[in-house]
Formats: sequence, structure tokens, C-alpha cells
Amino acid sequence: MVKVDLSGTATFFDAAELDFAAAAQAHRTLADKSGAGSDFTGWLELPKRIKETELKGILNAAAKIRSRSKALVVIGIGGSYLGARGAIELLRPIPSADDPKIFFVGNGLSPDALNDMLEQLGDDDFDVNVISKSGTTLEPAVSFRIFRKILKEKYGAAAKKHIFATTDAKKGVLKSLADAEGWECFVVPDDVGGRFSVLSAVGLLPMAVAGIDVKTVINTAIAELEALDLRSPENPAWQYAAARQYLYHNGRGIEILGCYEPSFRFMAEWWKQLYGESEGKNGIGIFPASVEFTADLHSMGQYIQDGPRTLIETIVRFEKPRRDFSVPFEMGDADGLNYLAGKNLSDICLTASEAVKSAHIAGGVPNIVVTVPSRDEAGFASLVCFFELACAISGYMSGVNPFDQPGVEAYKKNMFKMLGKPE
Ligand code: PA5
Repeated sequence: MVKVDLSGTATFFDAAELDFAAAAQAHRTLADKSGAGSDFTGWLELPKRIKETELKGILNAAAKIRSRSKALVVIGIGGSYLGARGAIELLRPIPSADDPKIFFVGNGLSPDALNDMLEQLGDDDFDVNVISKSGTTLEPAVSFRIFRKILKEKYGAAAKKHIFATTDAKKGVLKSLADAEGWECFVVPDDVGGRFSVLSAVGLLPMAVAGIDVKTVINTAIAELEALDLRSPENPAWQYAAARQYLYHNGRGIEILGCYEPSFRFMAEWWKQLYGESEGKNGIGIFPASVEFTADLHSMGQYIQDGPRTLIETIVRFEKPRRDFSVPFEMGDADGLNYLAGKNLSDICLTASEAVKSAHIAGGVPNIVVTVPSRDEAGFASLVCFFELACAISGYMSGVNPFDQPGVEAYKKNMFKMLGKPE
């Protein structure tokens, strides 16, 4: 289980002030499926359900793609994109020689980005995994139309064998197209919203193609969700949710999620969507932002240390690096760094993180540390379960429905009108 360390909040509140009764109530509401949006809480059972049904199909499709293609083009946006990208960049930041390259498209409308991607793809054999629960989202739908044409030109009648559609089990444009064309399909479950779907085929197929051990991800998630069902203030999800809510109600409207691993960047993007879309509604909600340390200490460090005191800082820490590096000794010590010679980079990084923590606390920024044992499949699964559960609890504590996103429709309405979409 991940650990939450609230010692960096001690000068801002007393632990006794945290409203664990509200966290307990929110957890009960979630588990009983009696709260707002309860028909979108299937993610709580998702790992168990996946194990029994779909995992074999996902692994077979991934093996097929890995054996015949040099690349997988994943088409999707928001919850149909960020989890897979977060996982792949965290766990496979550099693909091995046997791993297909994974390209992500359909998450914007930039022609330059698409052309750059196609240039990188070149003449390589590739497959497409189009992911859209609704099947109607404009960005992926336009990209998919473009890729259907490219596939047809490249593979002719066999193009349909190179398309894998992850969508609703029964309805939607993508499902109808898939049925008509005979594409292999995977399901986005009805009771799981996009931003909670990374442990479904939405995330698992691209992850498996990238060489991630998805069985370990699923097995860890099953165990983690069981452990996180703990109904006690010792539950790290309660601690994180209660601390965030306390701080929000005491003037802290922005939370920055930081990590000392650059490979965490897209996990932070995933987290931003999870928390922003779940909590930012009805005129309330913490604004989720992210930083990459130590790089951003040289850009955002000034603001964090000295800007308006409205921040909460949450740091994700992996206990062990995959491989370490030690600082070499140098005769003459011209750069003055021999005081570090022989030290591991991981130890220097840990010391830096402790120095940053105490400086930021002294500067008036409460600090929460979320610790994960290692940057691997198990660590990824634990983090996902922890952040999803804490998000739902925190959302219910704040009084919103954490599972809807009515606000994202406003821009779509305008855009479709301006683009002349028929009614
Ligand atoms: O969390 C969400 O529901 C959204 O981010 C959706 O995942 C995103 O809008 C993509 O939707 P769809 O999968 O229907 O294309």
C-alpha cells in the first residue's frame, strides 16, 4: 500500500482537526453505491472483473501487434488517453529493441503534430488502437478517419485487421463502425467514466503492447483496492482526502503534484484530469497543477517559495531507483564537487527533496508525501488505486458528484455550432 506522510502539514494544522468522520461517511457512500454518480463507480471492482473476463483477449491482441508491427498508434483523448500514456512513460520511458513504439494521437487538433508523428512513423508496419467511450469525440474521431485512410492505402483489404477499437459494449458510432467493418473490439464498461478507466482495456491494451506486465498491474490493483477498503484514519486515502479538504477550507485553492522522476510527467497529467474533472464544479474545487523536480525548482521554485500562500504541495516519492549512479572522484577537484564523490545520485536526490520540503514548509507551503516502494508495475497500480479512491472520497467530502463532467460540454456546443455540425 502507498504511504501518506502528513508530517509536513504539522505546522499548518493539528492532525486532530482532520475530519475523518466525513472521510468515513464519504467512503461508506462510495462503497454502498448510494451517492451521486454511483452508477459510475464500477472502477472499484474493475480489476477483479477484468481478471475473469477480458485479460486473455487483451494479451492476445497485444502479442499479435508486438509480433507484426513496429508501432502502435493510440487514438484517444482525456480519460481515453492519459492513463495509458502515464503508465507507458513511467514504466517504459525508453522502449527496448523488441518493443513497438507507441504514438499518441487524437488528443488535439494540431496538423503539425500529426505530420511530425507520421514522419516519425515512416514506412513502419503499425496497428491502430482507437479508444473512445462515446465514439463521438471530435479530436479522436477526426484522427481516426485520417488513419483509416492511411491504413487502407498501406494494407488494402487487410487494413481492418490492423484496427482495434476500445469503446462501449453496445452503442455509439465507433461500435457501429466496428461491427460493420469487423474490427476487433474491447469494452469501456458502462459504469466506468473515462478518467477512472486506466485499469480497463482503455489503458491495458496499449500498456501490454508497450511490454508492461499488465497481469502484475491487475493483481496488485486487486490487492490494493482490498487493502484500501480499510475503514480507519490509518487509510492513506482518508488521510490524503481529509488533509486536502482541510487545507482547501483554510485558503489553499491550488495543489501542485511534484515528483523527482521525470518519467512521472504524464502520470501527473493523468492525476490533474482525475482531480480537476472530478472536483472542479459548482464553483468549488482545488486547482490541480504539477511540477517536475528538481528541474522546476529553477523555474517555479520562486513562486512556490515566495508567491501567494494558496498552495498545497504533494510529492510522489519512489523509495528505490531502478538503477543508481555514483558521482566520480576527480583529481584536482577543479569543479569543487569531490565532497560528493562516491555518493549515490539517489541519496543526493533524497537529501535535495528533504531540503526542498523544509524550505517550502518554512515558506508557508504545507507538504504531503505519497510514498510508493518502486517505479514498477506494482507501484503504478498502487498509485492508481490510491489516487482514484482518495479522489472519490475527497469529492464526496466536498459535496460534489465526483463522477460527472457537465462543464466540458460548453466548449463542444460552441465548437460544433461554429464548425457547422448538422443538428
Ligand atoms: O473523463 C472523461 O470522461 C473524459 O476525459 C473523456 O474520457 C474524454 O472526453 C474522451 O471521451 P471519449 O472516450 O468518449 O472519446
